[in-house]
Amino acid sequence: MGILTRFSVAMDEELLARFDDLVARRGSAVNRSEAVRDLVRDALVDAEWEDSAGEIVGTVTMVFDHHASDLSDKLDSLQHAHHERIVSSMHVHLDAHNCLEVIVVRGTSEQVRAIADGLLGTKGVKHGKLVSTTTGKGL
Ligand code: NI
Repeated sequence: MGILTRFSVAMDEELLARFDDLVARRGSAVNRSEAVRDLVRDALVDAEWEDSAGEIVGTVTMVFDHHASDLSDKLDSLQHAHHERIVSSMHVHLDAHNCLEVIVVRGTSEQVRAIADGLLGTKGVKHGKLVSTTTGKGL
């Protein structure tokens, strides 16, 4: 490890409180700084992964309210537009309003990222994340 540099971060109080809860759950050996370092390392690994030239497989997980305007149609259209890259999708009706969708996408990191950004960036998607993995061919 190199020289430690301090920097300050502005964060919403509620978000910080939730982050502290998360840090506390990981035990007394972990403090805020260590937890932030872990997050930064994860992000750097992800970025490196996304720069790889080989084929990757991504799972896009998202939660949305199917009552929100024409959101379901929009998400469906996006998937049909990229049908050759969408391997599979699973839809779970979480409760009366909320749906969970998990979509498996295959392609270069750029293609997978573009499809994931399109889906996750659709107005009304409450939460979502792309998790990338690989067949190993590009490693
Ligand atoms: Ni549903």
